[in-house]
Amino acid sequence: MREGQPHTIYLKDYTPPVYQVETLNLKFELGDEFTVVTSTAHYQRDPSHLGNTLLELDGEDLELISVQLDGRYLQVNQDYRLTPEGLQILTMPAQGSLEIVTRIYPQKNTALEGLYQSSGNFCTQCEAQGFRKITYYQDRPDVMTLFTTDIIAERAKYPVLLSNGNLVAAGELEEGKHWARWLDPYRKPAYLFALVAGHLKHVEDFYTTGSGRKVTLRIYTEPHNISKCEHAMQSLKRAMRWDEQRFGLEYDLDIYMIVAVDDFNMGAMENKGLNIFNSKLVFASPETATDQDYINIESVIGHEYFHNWTGNRITCRDWFQLSLKEGLTVFRDQEFTADLHSPAVKRIEDVRMLRTFQFTEDASPMAHPIRPASYMEINNFYTMTVYEKGAEVVRLYQTLLGRAGFRQGMDLYFARHDGQAVTTEDFLAAMADANQADLKQLQRWYDQAGTPEVKVTMTYDATAQTCRLHCVQSIPATPESQHKQPQLIPLQVGLLRETGADLALYLEDQPCDGILQLTQAEQSFRFTQVPEQPVPSLLRNFSAPVRLVYPYTEAELIFLMKHDSDAFNRWDAGQRLAMRAFESLLLDLKQGIPLGLSHECVCAWQVVLTDENLDPALRAEALSLPSETDIAEQLRPADPAAIHQVREFVLTTLAKALRLDFEIIFYRLQHQGVYQIDAASMGKRRLKNVCLAYLGHLDDQAVPALCAEQYAQANNMTDALAALAVLVDIDCPERVAALQHFHDRWQHDPLVMDKWFALQASSSLPNTLQQVQQLLEHPLFDMRNPNKVRALIGSFALRNPWHFHAADGSGYAFLAERVLWLNERNPQVAARMVRPLINWRHYESGRAQLMRGQLERIQAHQGLSADVYEIVSKSLA
Ligand code: PHE
Ligand code: ZN
Repeated sequence: MREGQPHTIYLKDYTPPVYQVETLNLKFELGDEFTVVTSTAHYQRDPSHLGNTLLELDGEDLELISVQLDGRYLQVNQDYRLTPEGLQILTMPAQGSLEIVTRIYPQKNTALEGLYQSSGNFCTQCEAQGFRKITYYQDRPDVMTLFTTDIIAERAKYPVLLSNGNLVAAGELEEGKHWARWLDPYRKPAYLFALVAGHLKHVEDFYTTGSGRKVTLRIYTEPHNISKCEHAMQSLKRAMRWDEQRFGLEYDLDIYMIVAVDDFNMGAMENKGLNIFNSKLVFASPETATDQDYINIESVIGHEYFHNWTGNRITCRDWFQLSLKEGLTVFRDQEFTADLHSPAVKRIEDVRMLRTFQFTEDASPMAHPIRPASYMEINNFYTMTVYEKGAEVVRLYQTLLGRAGFRQGMDLYFARHDGQAVTTEDFLAAMADANQADLKQLQRWYDQAGTPEVKVTMTYDATAQTCRLHCVQSIPATPESQHKQPQLIPLQVGLLRETGADLALYLEDQPCDGILQLTQAEQSFRFTQVPEQPVPSLLRNFSAPVRLVYPYTEAELIFLMKHDSDAFNRWDAGQRLAMRAFESLLLDLKQGIPLGLSHECVCAWQVVLTDENLDPALRAEALSLPSETDIAEQLRPADPAAIHQVREFVLTTLAKALRLDFEIIFYRLQHQGVYQIDAASMGKRRLKNVCLAYLGHLDDQAVPALCAEQYAQANNMTDALAALAVLVDIDCPERVAALQHFHDRWQHDPLVMDKWFALQASSSLPNTLQQVQQLLEHPLFDMRNPNKVRALIGSFALRNPWHFHAADGSGYAFLAERVLWLNERNPQVAARMVRPLINWRHYESGRAQLMRGQLERIQAHQGLSADVYEIVSKSLA
């Protein structure tokens, strides 16, 4: 907990460590009440630091037992000093061995950072700064060393003892104890350290690398979940193969272990050779996991595996460089999913998420560049910006250099920096040097926050047969700077003829691949040999993370929805069409004009829905209109009640107008036999369930029965949950029965129960907040488990904007109270939960004041964690 105001740390203040560590030996004596950690490190001073004798070690919540230097006990205040941040060795020689003994209390650790227990088993989470809760050490990524770990524990309770690297020795001790020694042959920073001890079972498989080495693969879980690991194991093997094929990268140890735990603040962690995963990203079976779960598991298993090179072999110099490993690794996992499934569907989903959450963050008081210049609490910077916008910035290199050029850049990056802790400039330099390209202007993407806006206008000259695209880019002011420099924006374009075909592109008579490079605030591009006035398709495949503005007419958008050869832009044209409709409906609503949707609009969606040549998954995407959150972000100041009303109006209008089509498609896709998780089967389920959701908007007795039947007949969680999701919004006996059935059937399975909590929290029925409050008291709910908090409270605040933004402020007050409860126990989760309040300035004045009021209430609370303090104080500033 915080003492005084947390202070800000600046990138510009970075200095290299004075001491490096040659080897580190850790000994853990795991006990019922406390754990004793003995760490022995051999320090070596950087020769350039002659006079400096202070060695500063980080430490938090540690009980210090003893310190020895080269076998001699050190005296407090004479040889060392304890500070609020850690421990200072006052007279450290140029080299020496320090043995430090500390006592820690993992059983009392509710923050889930450092060493803690989950379901009675020990596990660790050290990124970013959790290692300092284990022992005194230079807890910074540019201090890399060789780790050896000894673990001692009671055999009966903790038969499995794991750490990074290879098991080199193990044995029995007195009093029913045993021990194991693990050695990691690769130097690593402390944040990649991991330890697991518990009553665990494992599944095992093998993978032979391209160069013929046989690697043992293991997934460890509590015994009752052991049957749900097959998909994760297969995903791991696919990831290992893919990284060899696409990037020439092989695994480098003899064993790769994954441990699934139920209590975890994040998704998963790439600890060297010993990943620790939130169990929701490991376990899958058709009855318990949705298609989306299957895809998420594969992608996160891939993500953590890909970190072995992008993160572990080459790591970050400091935490400002977080996007160096995260942006790059997200990009790699996106490409993995795209290569294995449908690239267009993957791109659409990623962009949908980016626009909904990252654009919102980039327009918030917490907006920051992908490489921030300062922070108070680094845990607050594991954000959509660092991860998802970071991945978009990595994608810019590939768009500009091509796949082959990008690969050359990666090869050079590994050749230069393997084994090092580096910066985003090093990555940019490797990409540029490998391709002899001038990419300097890309640096601005790392240093400037805010979503760039690109305004395009087109003029056509029939006599000259030329077409000019005029582009104006601007970047909104954000906390780190008011005035922005233009960024290098690759704008991929096409020009469509009246037939819908793409014109061959010539820029000033030179053949052009369609990628325009915007480098200035204002710029024109003239296409020649343009025989007719075209319709422009702009920002194809979302070639840069910008807001594209073009004065499209309704007719042009409908034309693009039908004809654009770029699947992403076909989808996006539909989203723009919907957004236009929402915008004008909101105006009509305000002026008391009766709501109506144009016949052309309805037909446009009908064409997509019934186009049998179009991949069902893409049809489903096209029919998934922008969410209430998207609308609120784009049409500010937002009135959530009005937004809900007009969106419901559009859904209902489409459901009524296209009822027959929805029914035909639904019934045709209804029964698919054996459950399969290939892209085609998932696409069909998706389309079927989108149809069902539309039918759910009809005020018709038949609908609840239809849902109840699908729920009862389903042989997989995707279909069962889709039916239940429709029912949850309808006040009917079928709803009550299905929820009860689901509860009774799955009460033994916490991950499935998370879905049950989440569904009810996102219901549009009037008493949802009371329901959520009652569910807090449910015997299977647990505020100390982050998955439960996210399922119930997170879903309410993020997926139920209408109720969360209730005009009386009850949703805000509820969230604030939960944030304060969490603040004391788990600051990281508390800080995530407070975020739905921070964009208060985007809402109409009544709600804005109520949101601000709750932020002020939180700010006034005594004993606020640094995590929550940073977010709340920045949003009120
Ligand atoms: N480094 C992890 C990942 O993205 C995320 C993580 C961060 C997990 C901090 C735990 C704590 O793969
Ligand atoms: Zn990651």
